Amino acid sequence: MQLFTRTAYSEPQQNPFSIVMMFVMIRDKAEARKIMKQLYKDVWAYTIPRRDDLRIRKASGSSLYGEITFGALDKLIRYLDLDDQDVFYDLGSGVGKVVHQIAMTTNVKRVVGVELSATRFKDAQKVRDAAAKEKWISKARCKFEHGDILKADLSKATVLYTCSTAFPMTFMMKLAKKLAESKRPQRIISLQELPQVPGLKLIDKIPLDMSWVRQTPVYVFETQP
Ligand SMILES: C[S@@+](CC[C@H](N)C(=O)[O-])C[C@H]1O[C@@H](n2cnc3c(N)ncnc32)[C@H](O)[C@@H]1O
Repeated sequence: MQLFTRTAYSEPQQNPFSIVMMFVMIRDKAEARKIMKQLYKDVWAYTIPRRDDLRIRKASGSSLYGEITFGALDKLIRYLDLDDQDVFYDLGSGVGKVVHQIAMTTNVKRVVGVELSATRFKDAQKVRDAAAKEKWISKARCKFEHGDILKADLSKATVLYTCSTAFPMTFMMKLAKKLAESKRPQRIISLQELPQVPGLKLIDKIPLDMSWVRQTPVYVFETQP
């Protein structure tokens, strides 16, 4: 287990002199894997109520569920070389596994999950509260938003991940256009290749394991503001 210290400004625009020392505990892979198992032992993400499903379809998304494996996310984290300036977003965060693993094993400034299913969103929050109670994560660095990816404010993100395999083409086109409008450089990791739009550049393709498939190509894009 490593202990990282970093200095963070709280709301610098409003209070430039308020410097808060924050201690970010970075857990090693084995310990984090054990904690994740415990946190999720009673959480079932694969089925959701019909009203959740309808809401997601209305937003032209897909409610199909699947996850990146713990090992694959660990590989992605090392590939991304995340640091304390990064703000990581999981677009379609389900029950929050990506968010919690990132929060426990990196020192990113903040990690945010956006999810439209009320059931999955509530489960993610319950897990976050349980993890914070045990001091496995800090609630201040870990946030879940209940809403549509296409309406979310993504302007603070530096890295965005989306397990987009089942998202329809129309949705992917809207998402690509939204991401391309970013005013800051952002890295985007998508399981489905984003449609070509000006302002988005494909920079890499890496094979990663998902809960339903091994070594699937995952696309890395960069915004070019
Ligand atoms: C394949 S799951 C990924 C779960 C999680 N990211 C992981 O890897 O563990 C995709 C998630 O996206 C959510 N979703 C689909 N369309 C959405 C939308 N328009 N806005 C927010 N979430 C959406 C689904 O409900 C589902 O939980």
